Amino acid sequence: MRKKIIAGNWKMNLKQQEGTILISEVVNMVKDEVTNNALVVLCPPFPHLGYAKKLFQSQANIFLGSQNCADKASGAYTGEVSAAILQSFEVDYVIIGHSERREYYKETDQTLAAKVNLTLENGLLPIFCCGETLQQRQAGQHFQLIQDQLTNGLFHLSAEQFSKVVIAYEPIWAIGTGVTASNDQAQEMHALIRKHLASKYGQAAAHQTTILYGGSVKADNAAELFACPDVDGGLVGGASLKSREFVNIVKAMK
Ligand code: PGA
Repeated sequence: MRKKIIAGNWKMNLKQQEGTILISEVVNMVKDEVTNNALVVLCPPFPHLGYAKKLFQSQANIFLGSQNCADKASGAYTGEVSAAILQSFEVDYVIIGHSERREYYKETDQTLAAKVNLTLENGLLPIFCCGETLQQRQAGQHFQLIQDQLTNGLFHLSAEQFSKVVIAYEPIWAIGTGVTASNDQAQEMHALIRKHLASKYGQAAAHQTTILYGGSVKADNAAELFACPDVDGGLVGGASLKSREFVNIVKAMK
């Protein structure tokens, strides 16, 4: 059985005190209410990583994620945070190639491939994002584009390395817009992604790969999306900032 994951991407939100409260609330609710259907990954901004893990150390189904890491191993790169530093703060997962990083910070496939390598070399698990704009979808380019993003970012990995990778499909037109992909659109793309992974790593490996959906996931649409056979959880932005809403999304995973 492949892993089911609900990851909360806080993006650039929440000060320290707010973060502490949110994590504590999520931990308490997850402890009380959630069964073992899904792992929870909390991805706060970098400074929160220092204390966050201590708040859920005893909780076996909650993990810590970073939203990014440097594409260099160490050294004179002011403002960057390496995978090795993240590893030393007991980070478990790293989001790589979020569309906001690709778009606003001009991260290329090559940069992302380097980040994936460093993440894996340091024993961290990449959550590799892919997604198309509305314009690309309307032009019928979305299937090819997603395949290219996966090929360029991941297909240099060995089968053993690839087995550590989580994929997140996030159509850019659905991120933060309140417009979610329909269940059919999500399932169609997730199935295509799995087929593409199978073409490189074989059916069994593709079947084992966790593929998350991201883009306006909310408590009231999560259950339907997660019911799609190839949707293995969610990468949740806005709705991960409210503890009750986020935990209800976690609970929607059956
Ligand atoms: P959203 O963001 O849930 O606010 O749409 C998802 C993401 O960008 O990871």
